[in-house]
Amino acid sequence: MKKTIILLGAPGAGKGTNAKRITAYYKLPHISTGDMFREALKNETPLGMLAKSYMDKGLLVPDDVTVSLVKERLAKDDCKDGFLLDGFPRNVYQAEELKKIGEELNLPINYVIDIDVPESVLVDRICGRRVCKTCGAPYHVTNLKPKVEGKCDLCGGELIQRKDDNEETLKSRLDEYHHQTEPLVKFYGSAVYKVDGTKDLDLLMEDIKHIIEG
Ligand code: AP5
Ligand code: MG
Repeated sequence: MKKTIILLGAPGAGKGTNAKRITAYYKLPHISTGDMFREALKNETPLGMLAKSYMDKGLLVPDDVTVSLVKERLAKDDCKDGFLLDGFPRNVYQAEELKKIGEELNLPINYVIDIDVPESVLVDRICGRRVCKTCGAPYHVTNLKPKVEGKCDLCGGELIQRKDDNEETLKSRLDEYHHQTEPLVKFYGSAVYKVDGTKDLDLLMEDIKHIIEG
């Protein structure tokens, strides 16, 4: 079965962190809509400016923009044997559109992995997170320190704090998650594999490998 994977989970659940490990291990493209928006913002494109006005408030970027971005990305050659989606779909409409895209490209979703983390843990993770300005790799001030302070282990880039990583914006991000994204667990039903996102990352990777390799 093709490794077409969706990672679900609240803000700070560890989608990006686990996505990096899974895609490195299985050599898959890591498609993060959040990273795509942040890249567009860094390049000051119209898409980046539009996304910023929503991201800064912790709201979802409009569906039409997000869906066409993903559609274009999944049509690229590197996705033909599989991919990992991190942060998409984010609501039932996006999931329905993704189903249509999957049918058109003959790439249906085979694995939906829901990373479960209690809300009390999410706040600490988000407020203590640092990310690489160059490659986006996530770190944490206590849980996941880089080898050299302030520098990314993977590319040596500078570590910074995301603009939406503060308690105020996190409230709206969690609200959006509960109202819009959580219903996807019901949407995907028995196709969803739940994993414990508070586990040590290596143990979590073992659980994920079991899901994917059966
Ligand atoms: P996005 O970038 O997707 O952010 P998010 O969903 O809020 O999730 P995060 O990236 O904050 O968390 P994560 O789950 O990746 O956690 P991480 O691995 O970094 O979206 C941002 C914005 O873009 C949205 O608000 C929206 O405006 C827009 N957007 C994006 N996609 C969209 C879409 N489809 N439609 C509309 N709008 C969209 O981990 C967090 C921290 O915890 C890190 O410091 C990490 O080191 C630590 N950690 C992780 N796992 C562990 C562990 N097992 N043990 C210890 N520490 C851990
Ligand atoms: Mg992320």
